[in-house]
Amino acid sequence: MAKAKSIFICQECGYESTGWLGKCPACNMWNTFVEELQERGQKAPGAAAADVKAVSINDIQVDTEERYPTGMKEMDRVLGGGIVKGSLILVGGDPGIGKSTLLLQVCQNIRHASKILYVSGEESIRQIKMRADRLGIKKPGLMLVSETNFKMIEKLIEGENPELVIIDSIQTIFDDGLTSAPGSVSQVRGVTSGLMRIAKGSGIAVMIVGHVTKEGALAGPRVLEHMVDTVLYFEGDRHLSYRVLRAVKNRFGSTNEIGIFEMRDTGLAEVDNPSMTMLSGRPEDVPGSVVISSIEGTRPMLVEIQALVCATNFGMPRRMATGIDYNRITLLMAVLEKRVGMQLGSYDAYVNVIGGLKLDEPACDLGIVTAIASSFREKAVDPGSVLVGEVGLTGEIRAVSQIEKRIMEAARIGFKSCIIPAGNAKMLDRSREIEGIRIKKVENVQQALEILL
Ligand code: TYD
Ligand code: MG
Repeated sequence: MAKAKSIFICQECGYESTGWLGKCPACNMWNTFVEELQERGQKAPGAAAADVKAVSINDIQVDTEERYPTGMKEMDRVLGGGIVKGSLILVGGDPGIGKSTLLLQVCQNIRHASKILYVSGEESIRQIKMRADRLGIKKPGLMLVSETNFKMIEKLIEGENPELVIIDSIQTIFDDGLTSAPGSVSQVRGVTSGLMRIAKGSGIAVMIVGHVTKEGALAGPRVLEHMVDTVLYFEGDRHLSYRVLRAVKNRFGSTNEIGIFEMRDTGLAEVDNPSMTMLSGRPEDVPGSVVISSIEGTRPMLVEIQALVCATNFGMPRRMATGIDYNRITLLMAVLEKRVGMQLGSYDAYVNVIGGLKLDEPACDLGIVTAIASSFREKAVDPGSVLVGEVGLTGEIRAVSQIEKRIMEAARIGFKSCIIPAGNAKMLDRSREIEGIRIKKVENVQQALEILL
């Protein structure tokens, strides 16, 4: 019998230490270490070394149809065309954001997979059935089970032999061979590697739900990211109805694409026209609101950015950013101070991307700068204008990629003018009339603000 040894594991990132530490040296989080027992001399399960054989790349047969399209356009877009057979997909997100709902809907719509096993460790099968009824799900091949013991689940998968297994959620499943509590890093990792073995061994696709909590009560699925093939995050403001699905890792597709859903009382609906959705309810002729044209993956999207600049009450001015990198805001405000002469030092600034989107494209810079300046000067930007451009440290507006796509989207939605970097204008001369939208080119921030405000 191997001797049990106790080690301390960071519940946030999985860093291991022989003693308790207040702060994790790997992820810098405080108070995340938990003592866990570990069997010493554990051997990875698997075949003996003598059975292992390498195969020539030309001898490996791959089915031509190796993906199951999910039947949901937005989901397929993020996955890169559907669920790959034998792949392990982690769907992470805050509790209550809609992960279970999304996966139930995938079960209903998925093509070419006739048998699906939905394992819930959180709800009874009757509760799932009630939800499924509300969502209109009645796929006969969808088998439900409420179970948390991994050994039982493994047996069940073997017996049922489904094409797709859904585990909801990984934090509730435990392997009784491991001594630590369900939801701890070693359980979550142990169960995931077991599921990985099943997926790779039998070609069954496995989707795992993982809750992310900031409080650290449950092990963050971050520790699983390197183990699985695909990591999807389902995000959004729980108080708003929009949800964004994004891939942060995908061995079988691009990680640039995002899928947009709307949570309705009948479940998640796909949003076909995100620009229209993102702009609905936009206030017009109000200082601090601008529209930018951003590229999310391969598709252009118009998004509203709002800024509020107001006098600071306390000594230190506050800056807050939602959906945009905080450091980008401080940098762009510094450009405004230095290059435009706007004295923002005694003002608080709040910048918000509407609709729960995250923008990390430099092409949004001009929009951010203009929103801040517009709020500072209390002057509204023409609601028929769309802004595109990267702002450099000297205040210059730099060219951006895929300018035609961005302008075409603005024209399609009915905008009248588009402010673009002068560096992009040359390529556009020929298409200028076709668009039906006026193009204004700008060289630097001062010039842009003169036109806009
Ligand atoms: P759920 O899928 O249970 O979240 P998760 O699995 O990520 O914890 O979603 C729960 C939320 O979704 C809940 O607040 C109610 C809402 N919801 C709807 O608005 N409409 C619906 O049809 C369903 C099923 C849920
Ligand atoms: Mg759930």
